[in-house]
Amino acid sequence: MDIWEGIRTKHSIRAFAQTPIAEGEARQILDAGRRAPSGFNAQPWYFIAVRDRAMLHELSTIGRSTRHVAGAALCVLILSPDRETNFWRNLFDAGQAATYLMLAAHELGIASCPGTVYEPVRARDLLGFPDDWKPYILISFGYPDPADPRLGTGKGGRKPFEEVVRWEKW
Ligand SMILES: Cc1cc2nc3c(=O)[nH]c(=O)nc-3n(C[C@H](O)[C@H](O)[C@H](O)COP(=O)(O)O)c2cc1C
Repeated sequence: MDIWEGIRTKHSIRAFAQTPIAEGEARQILDAGRRAPSGFNAQPWYFIAVRDRAMLHELSTIGRSTRHVAGAALCVLILSPDRETNFWRNLFDAGQAATYLMLAAHELGIASCPGTVYEPVRARDLLGFPDDWKPYILISFGYPDPADPRLGTGKGGRKPFEEVVRWEKW
């Protein structure tokens, strides 16, 4: 799959087959996140990769719309530094890492869906990371469930090109 094809065809999928993700493929996805660019090359992230089924169930309750994590084969929490300084840059960098993780998975035929974490303290209780790191976002991964009626519909539409692009000036 070339990059344009990946960008064009990738959509969030929230229903997963019960097929595990092989170790090599999980490592390739995580390695892609590690290779994302970041401001000043600070690489302000840790990735916690969870495959344990009981823990995936627990993590599915740390957001308001994270039920998809319960059926995932892998969930990656992106930890960002919890500091006032560089906060927005760190979040931007986390977003870049998220995209690298998801596009690398897409090339392997592995679907994904981000989830916003609303209960970082509960996440910390479950996973034991230091208090000065925060999981603002998680991503569930898994092979798509072929029985999902929304599969392949690309339901997340996009605003038209002419609406969002302004050449030269507003
Ligand atoms: C920062 C961010 C947070 C998101 N949080 C959630 C979430 O909590 N639950 C969820 O089901 N989807 C979540 N999504 C997925 C978006 O709803 C989805 O990307 C968007 O609707 C476009 O659809 P598509 O990805 O299928 O093209 C999130 C996406 C991003 C980028």
